[in-house]
Amino acid sequence: MGKTRIAVIPGDGIGKEVIAEGCKVLEALDRRFGLGLSLEYFPWSADHYLATGVTLPDEQIETYRNDFAAIYLGAVGDPRVPSNQHAKDILLGMRFKLDLYVNLRPVSLIDERLCPLKGKQAKDVQITIFRENTEDLYVEVGGVFKQGTPDEVAINESINTRKGVERIIRRAFEYARDRKLGRVCMSDKANVLRYGHGLWQRVFREVRTEFPEIQSRHMYVDALCMEIIRAPENFDVIVTSNMFGDIITDLGAALAGGLGVAASGNIHPGGIGLFEPVHGSAPDIAGKGLANPVGAISTAALMLDYLGFKDAARVTEQAVADNIRAGYTTPDLGGTLSTAGAGDCIIRRIAEIQ
Ligand code: NAD
Ligand code: IPM
Ligand code: MN
Repeated sequence: MGKTRIAVIPGDGIGKEVIAEGCKVLEALDRRFGLGLSLEYFPWSADHYLATGVTLPDEQIETYRNDFAAIYLGAVGDPRVPSNQHAKDILLGMRFKLDLYVNLRPVSLIDERLCPLKGKQAKDVQITIFRENTEDLYVEVGGVFKQGTPDEVAINESINTRKGVERIIRRAFEYARDRKLGRVCMSDKANVLRYGHGLWQRVFREVRTEFPEIQSRHMYVDALCMEIIRAPENFDVIVTSNMFGDIITDLGAALAGGLGVAASGNIHPGGIGLFEPVHGSAPDIAGKGLANPVGAISTAALMLDYLGFKDAARVTEQAVADNIRAGYTTPDLGGTLSTAGAGDCIIRRIAEIQ
């Protein structure tokens, strides 16, 4: 049988540190479960861009599409590249060109001690967020006019297409149905964005009729932010636009222990996926061994689950959860372990779980 090829892009800052731990975990799982993974490393990063002027070659994207099962990315972003050009080309480039329209971001509280909310248990914070990933304000349609003058004009357009809105809303409902999750909430700002989010409203009303068994509701995004904090137990699946999804998923991460633990998958269902922790390159802690590898390791589990390696994914999730409950964590979660120390602990735990 052919190998399952995974393109590994460690990227910048703590991306490199956490991906090193994620790859150690993937290698351990490969040995234990005989997964047949082939981890192949790529240099796309600020260092590479500054040295060569190359961000991510177009031909490479075609190779990923045709020859790889998944991409495993750390983070991109570096203070030496203030334009963020390489990050846009690498991360947004792959999201757009590979048409990875689902940004799947689970918020899963493992231990109530990690939740900043009073009186909430792990079962109260279990939300899967579907962030539209190819449209909205992210499309870079716009420009500046009369730059540097008092009359300067700056425009970023938000694009919402029938196809784009419909496919992400339908995917959220299908996910809820397949996992027996009873509730889907669509969030927008249609009271102000009458055209773009008017489309979200119309499509939502249509698609929900295909899933009568699922309770669906709508909330404006400002009210949603308040409600997620007040009563996270009221949500199973949330579906929203690209920019709101970006913001809500950092907020969600905070409810489950912070950015150090949040995982994500950028997916074209049935096709290739790009898996990355939600956090960035964290220049403030890079190179110090302080980064929490759990987000990257849980992301590896999400990737294995997507690739059909269900047992390996389950064991990894359990190892991460056991270690967090036992207090084997990095400083962001109150522990004393280094990035590599936390990774090693998870690998030891993986070996013990049946
Ligand atoms: P960030 O996620 O890098 O950091 C925010 C805060 O969270 C920092 O205080 C950081 O120390 C902390 N943090 C993040 N990950 C952590 C971890 N694993 N363990 C412990 N603490 C962690 O966000 P930022 O500071 O806004 O952005 C830094 C750079 O990363 C920017 O260039 C930004 O554009 C980029 N970025 C990239 C991605 C990505 O590649 N997916 C995501 C977000 C931000
Ligand atoms: C994320 C990040 C990216 C985004 C940035 C780095 C372009 O914040 O993956 O959440 O805004 O999507
Ligand atoms: Mn973000």
